[in-house]
Amino acid sequence: MSASLFDFDFEDTKARHKSLSEKIRSADVAYYSEDVPLMDDGEYDKLRRELEEIEKRYPKLVTKDSPTQSVGVSPSRGFKKVKHAVPMLSLSNVFSEEDVEGFFDKIRRFLGLDENTLIELVAEPKIDGLSCSLRYEKHRLVLAATRGDGSEGEDITANVKTISCIPQILPEDAPELLEVRGEIYMGSDAFEKLNAAQKESGKECFANPRNAAAGSVRQLDSSVTAMRELGFFGYGVGEAGYKFYDTQIELREKLEQWGIPGTSYKICSSLKEIMDNYNSLLEQRMFLGFDIDGIVYKVNDLTLQERLGFISRSPRWATAHKFPAEQAVTRINAIDIQVGRTGALTPVARLEPITVGGVVVSNATLHNEDEIVRKDIRIGDTVVIQRAGDVIPQVVRVLTEKRNGSEQIFHPLETCPECGAHAVREEGEVVRRCAGGLTCPKQAVERLKHFVSRLAFDIDGLGDKIIQSFWDDGLIKNPADIFTLEKRNKESSTSICTREGWGDLSEKNLFESINNCRKISLNRFIYALGIRQIGEATAKRLAATYGTIDSLQASMISACEQESEAYNNLLSIEDIGPVAASDLIAFFAEEHNLDVLAQLKEHLHIETYTQPNHAHSVIAGKTVVFTGTLIQMTRAEAKAKAESLGAKVAGSVSNKTDYVVAGENPGSKYQNAQKLGVPIINEEEFKKIIAK
Ligand code: IVH
Repeated sequence: MSASLFDFDFEDTKARHKSLSEKIRSADVAYYSEDVPLMDDGEYDKLRRELEEIEKRYPKLVTKDSPTQSVGVSPSRGFKKVKHAVPMLSLSNVFSEEDVEGFFDKIRRFLGLDENTLIELVAEPKIDGLSCSLRYEKHRLVLAATRGDGSEGEDITANVKTISCIPQILPEDAPELLEVRGEIYMGSDAFEKLNAAQKESGKECFANPRNAAAGSVRQLDSSVTAMRELGFFGYGVGEAGYKFYDTQIELREKLEQWGIPGTSYKICSSLKEIMDNYNSLLEQRMFLGFDIDGIVYKVNDLTLQERLGFISRSPRWATAHKFPAEQAVTRINAIDIQVGRTGALTPVARLEPITVGGVVVSNATLHNEDEIVRKDIRIGDTVVIQRAGDVIPQVVRVLTEKRNGSEQIFHPLETCPECGAHAVREEGEVVRRCAGGLTCPKQAVERLKHFVSRLAFDIDGLGDKIIQSFWDDGLIKNPADIFTLEKRNKESSTSICTREGWGDLSEKNLFESINNCRKISLNRFIYALGIRQIGEATAKRLAATYGTIDSLQASMISACEQESEAYNNLLSIEDIGPVAASDLIAFFAEEHNLDVLAQLKEHLHIETYTQPNHAHSVIAGKTVVFTGTLIQMTRAEAKAKAESLGAKVAGSVSNKTDYVVAGENPGSKYQNAQKLGVPIINEEEFKKIIAK
């Protein structure tokens, strides 16, 4: 080969290397920041393989910025998961003045305070960004994590370190160990600039500053994040070496002293102050320089916050007062019926697509057929729709004056549109359901989707479309099939990587994420089963009560007998009434479910439920029943405190009860406890236990 020919070849290859690198880089950006992939995984893999081949042949083309070298680009196209030392919670919402009043009332009732007692609330703007936890150890920023599902988020440290307003080191007077909780956001000016630049380079624009901030933080290449102007506001604390504040105001002041930026805030003690502040922020909203979607109210006094505690995932001591939803006018083109995982048939309005608050909306839920009648919604109607935050868009009202007589009334279906089984509406129920059970393909697919969803198995890479196509091709028919997929794939002549849109890398990643999920907590597992009425909180209570999947299963089978002890134990669990009980029992009575359960147990390690962090409390894991009037705290507070220490609070006394806490004028539970020889303690003794 002559030198000149070689050079010619090299020049060509070099040009190809450059264009491949650019293509891959922009595919990465589109994939991570805009969540709009430019190409499917198969094509992406092919480009990367070609690039690697070239670099093998010409090692001098391997520069630091080649996509093959970029640091932090994990092969699974993802971030490392991290467990939060203290969960990252969400907030309940209020929408009106009455709701705010209700929030005040609930707090007073819970604490047993009379209606004239003033409670100081701190009102902070609710920043519309993405929450982040910054962990400082020995005063140094060592970890930044997204909220994720609240207990586990993603490690975004490298990217967050490029945000200039976030201190990398805290001053000496801050606790050595400190987790600052707050919001990463993109200011309005930065957002405008970014979108102008996106447009100029022919890239897609971001719908709103929140998406732009999220997209910028979820970059695998932190040099891209560094180019985006992001801000951070701190408003809370996770784990801390010691308690350094007694009020929310003091917390905010300390954070600011230590160099953590914060928003303005205001103390309000009356409904009037709250509403004045709300209305004035609503007016200033446009001029703040960053997006807010409401106001957060927090009880100022930390002692009261601790007494109030949490319900499920949100604090009782805080709530978000949302700004009014954004509305728009559009036309209903059709009404379709969606079949849910429990067979519920939900009417959905197919809309003439319209942009509401920067997001294109083409569907709105109509809830149920009574709602359609109540609002007199017809096909062809012009309607006002609204969208608030992440809530599914809704039809607010019909503009009847726009009718021309061609609109059609919607008639409920007699049969399921997916499987043709009867569509039954039971007496007293608002929901019509498909009677097909698991023979209805749609119900089966929806159950699978629920099984892999975020609060259940959280399997990355098994999105709705993939579940549907694997179902259509018979690859996954029930949840257990997910865990035999890799083995079957190896034995099959048509492996997944040959499917359209798939490549070696995406196949490998899929199996990796499935394998990462073979170990699962009992509460998540119970939730994943998708039993009607059993949401996340109830699943946790069931896990805490029964401890293992085998014990839950055995108890549900024994609970078939309504008079049995197992049945009474089930009913004594908080939140479980006869309806939820019968759904649970029915689930475990179904042959098909037991069969799938047995298969799942073979492939999974379902962890025994362990009480989080309360091993030191004598009531952790114990069943406690309250009776009579407590003097120093309300029943609700006592119950919540016991639960937060890991106790199970039951409604009736049985031989499973460990303690009965008796206040004044106890009822029949007291006698029952005496009869059964259950230890009875008074309020003072209970207070001592919870103070420890
Ligand atoms: S406090 C336990 N304060 O809103 C307290 N959250 O809907 C939990 N947010 O996940 C959060 N501004 O991402 C709090 N001033 C503020 C906030 C705020 C925005 C976000 C945060 C949270 C979400 C809950």
